[in-house]
Amino acid sequence: MKKATLFILFLIPLWPWAVHAQQNRMWVPADKDKIYIRLAESGARFDADDLYHPGRPSFNDAVVQFNGGCSGGIISDQGLLITNHHCGYGAIRAHSTLKHNYIRDGFWAKSLDEELPNPGMYVTIVRKVYDVTDQVLQGVTDDMDESLRQSRIDENINRLKDTFRLPSWMDLEVKPFLYGNKYYAFVTETFRDVRLVGAPPSSIGKFGADTDNWMWPRHSGDFALFRIYADKNNRPAEYSEDNVPYRPVKWFKVSLQGVDEGDLVVVYGFPGRTRQYLPSFAVRHITEKVNPLRIAVREKALEIMDRHMRSNDTLKLMYTAHYARVANYWKKWKGENIGIRRARAVEQKEALEKELLSHPDASVAREAEEVLDSLRALYAALEAPDLARALLVEAFYINNDWTRRAFILYAMENEKPDRFEEKRSEYITRIMREFRTTDNRVSEELFRAMWEFYRTRMPREFRDSTLAAMDADSLARKIAAESILADSTKFLRVASLSPEEFQKALKNDSGYALARRLIQSYYGKIFPAYQSAQKGMNALMRRYVAVLEKSNRTRPLVPDANGTLRISFGKVAGYRPRDGMYYEPVTTIDGVVEKYIPGDYEFDLPEEFLKLYAARDFGPYAEDGTLPVNFLATAHTTGGNSGSPVLNADGDLVGVNFDRVWEGTMSDLFYDPRISRNISVDTRYVMFIIDKLGKAVNLVNEIQAVK
Ligand code: ARG
Ligand code: ASP
Repeated sequence: MKKATLFILFLIPLWPWAVHAQQNRMWVPADKDKIYIRLAESGARFDADDLYHPGRPSFNDAVVQFNGGCSGGIISDQGLLITNHHCGYGAIRAHSTLKHNYIRDGFWAKSLDEELPNPGMYVTIVRKVYDVTDQVLQGVTDDMDESLRQSRIDENINRLKDTFRLPSWMDLEVKPFLYGNKYYAFVTETFRDVRLVGAPPSSIGKFGADTDNWMWPRHSGDFALFRIYADKNNRPAEYSEDNVPYRPVKWFKVSLQGVDEGDLVVVYGFPGRTRQYLPSFAVRHITEKVNPLRIAVREKALEIMDRHMRSNDTLKLMYTAHYARVANYWKKWKGENIGIRRARAVEQKEALEKELLSHPDASVAREAEEVLDSLRALYAALEAPDLARALLVEAFYINNDWTRRAFILYAMENEKPDRFEEKRSEYITRIMREFRTTDNRVSEELFRAMWEFYRTRMPREFRDSTLAAMDADSLARKIAAESILADSTKFLRVASLSPEEFQKALKNDSGYALARRLIQSYYGKIFPAYQSAQKGMNALMRRYVAVLEKSNRTRPLVPDANGTLRISFGKVAGYRPRDGMYYEPVTTIDGVVEKYIPGDYEFDLPEEFLKLYAARDFGPYAEDGTLPVNFLATAHTTGGNSGSPVLNADGDLVGVNFDRVWEGTMSDLFYDPRISRNISVDTRYVMFIIDKLGKAVNLVNEIQAVK
């Protein structure tokens, strides 16, 4: 045994394999053997069966996917749920009025009947996870062509599903992992009656807003409370007044113990998407071509919105949410690019690829060469359509008010005739929502700037030369003056015409005709070109990942995030953002107040909060005379992990995950343990806000806090 290990160590030069060590660390709960190894060395006082067990209550039963895009944790025997303020933001805003401004002032239900229902909101709990690779890939061979392969897989999945015989309130999902090298099945329950229970004022929940977003040191109380309701049999049910609080089989105790540097943390949630195994040239394509384009477009749009928002409060209110959404990934991509360069990710991947090509196992080397050559060719073919797609989406969908609503109008125009009447009001609602959150002064300027991007940055083969020859100023003026894209009254009139008249009015609207031409170039040309370049990509990546796996059997590859339940282990740790600097892993309430700027839209604080601070009235939540607020750890997380429960070595809740540090956001492509960090809000700060600021005694009593 020892001899064999030594032999392998000698045979394989070690350093390029560091890339392996830096790959994905988001474990699938069903992979008990691998998790077991991680746990054994972690210092945890629970075992792998506590994390996940298909036959009895385990931590997974207290973890939810929150409304599709976030995560959350159950923290009472009455289905109380904690997630992020930024995950519950839409719901909190929907319940806010001038009289009850929950966004500004916060919200605390003092009893069950004050909890607020949220139509459309849902949470999903994963009950069981199975590795079903063997069943799904039965009869699938390496030399099968892709479509035959896929139909065999589909048949196998359908047959597999039949064998499950789930009760009516459970669902089964089978998903590919590692580009189809593996398949897992998930048995889930989805609850559709989820009510708002509590939220801090935005000045706490969003403290630091865009300026602090993706940054450390951080001082945000980014949490909100909801409750899952179930029917009388404790089963998932649509909203009903008769529903009762869900009684979970497992919930987390809330720890008041806090964390110290070096402590184990476990992040349990639903990471959305990572791409850890891309070859060097793919990372180059993303960071050197795609990201700069998207960053440039967004930077321009943000500059325009910001100028108007600063000059006018109405405009500020209108654009706030949209601005935050655009700024979030703008900032993320900038950090990602810097991190990829600093971690020398491309160079490290190149070194790994070179190693593969001279692998001692000749069959591995041969397969690697073939796959890498094909992938390189595919990426060369992908470049133009991928950039065209990114540009069109950024310049005409995300950052352009007039053409964004044109996309919805286009769907309305092309609605099946027999469904038109039924869907009409839905389209009108969607488009009117767009009108309400935009203003032509801003929209016109955005349009002109975006048109310039089209003229100058759209790859030649996808540029419509007639359109590119048009002058942005006169186009913008014409749309502003005449088009239904810029006039809600005109739009409403046209949208309520008979189907024939509606079609005719659209034909006569030159602004919309222009947008339609762009949209058609997207659906007719850009997207198909992108898809055909993409075609084959998955199959090649599947082979590439298989080669990686074969090249070093002792290190199993962990699948990329794909929106499924994962476990990430980490340690509380600071980091060096730059040469000569060290960031400590914990911030405190003293830092919150240091950042305080009275009346500022990002750094204001509630009066009551300042009073508590002045009195240093932190209750049982204090540590060493102050109150910890946020902390850093090395857990590998991504978008979708927001709201994830963060557990300590006892399996108790010490934090709620909500962000990552800027220098380490390249972890979606390349995780670097030196600088990739997740950020959590300390549960003691959460309890302080609920208890002292919210005075929600009912919730303090409901939550089982442990010291
Ligand atoms: N950066 C975090 C994430 O990607 C938080 C985003 C919400 N906060 C904000 N200021 N936009 O989702
Ligand atoms: N803020 C992200 C989210 O909302 C988490 C992250 O990207 O780290 O899921």
